[in-house]
Amino acid sequence: SADDIRFLLDEAEQWIEFNRRPRKQDGRLVGLTQINAFFENSTRTLVSFELAGKRLGAQVVNFSAATSSVKKGESLKDTALTLNAMRPDVLVIRHDANGAALQVAELMDCPVINAGDGSGEHPTQALLDVLTIRRRFGRIEGLKVAICGDIRHSRVAGSNMRSLPLLGAEVRLIGPPSLLPDLAPDGIGLFEDFDEGIAGADVVMMLRIQHERMEAGLSGTLGDYFGRYGLSRARLDRAAPGAVVMHPGPMNRGVEIDGELADDPERSAILEQVEMGVALRIACLDVVTRPARGG
Ligand code: NCD
Repeated sequence: SADDIRFLLDEAEQWIEFNRRPRKQDGRLVGLTQINAFFENSTRTLVSFELAGKRLGAQVVNFSAATSSVKKGESLKDTALTLNAMRPDVLVIRHDANGAALQVAELMDCPVINAGDGSGEHPTQALLDVLTIRRRFGRIEGLKVAICGDIRHSRVAGSNMRSLPLLGAEVRLIGPPSLLPDLAPDGIGLFEDFDEGIAGADVVMMLRIQHERMEAGLSGTLGDYFGRYGLSRARLDRAAPGAVVMHPGPMNRGVEIDGELADDPERSAILEQVEMGVALRIACLDVVTRPARGG
């Protein structure tokens, strides 16, 4: 709910300064075990969840599918039951199947945090995105947010198009027809023309093409992608004055975004998103483990 989101954002605000200190150590998760079970590649999400747990004092174990018995044919259910038997206090999971986090949560005795499930949801990414936007603008309500790129296969778009309207933002989705959803959710505009969709936007959120989630052939039909759907300075001029550029990463410079624009701290909040990700994930780990800590 909007109240739940605001609560987590306020909790995260309290950790931003902490993360800027030379020594970042808080003991509230000392003695607790956090397992990060990643069945898909990750840089930002995995490292930030690991840092978040360690900064709170947890014992953090990273489990990677590439080196696990998943490679020997073990099912997701058996993997979850196995990890559960080791009595972790919190599990963070990323998986390529939609609904995997929910399925695992039903098997585990500890809280489970979804770090991205297929093309479904990526809730902590959407939360760190709204935290970044709220800090730049001081509010979410009334802002126009254009999300551009491979909307159809993006769990980042999936979670943001649910959370932003809850907080009063107007969301527009921009992309080629093959990468847009068939139906727009209520109140959300779909645009095939980037220049039309970006007009007056306060935030322009760019997304990578998710080649790994596409049926063969689709990615070969995209033609001059940068020319039609890449974010350049000229295109950004059509957005609201001072519009902020965002990208969850990993970005492909020259494909969906101009590299020099991505590096401009005046316009780009991309590294701020990464920084906010650590604070937000500390807040999530703190909040979900409160019942186990008697809080
Ligand atoms: C995204 C993801 O994994 O969904 N990355 C991230 O977590 N920051 C986006 C992507 O892979 O394109």
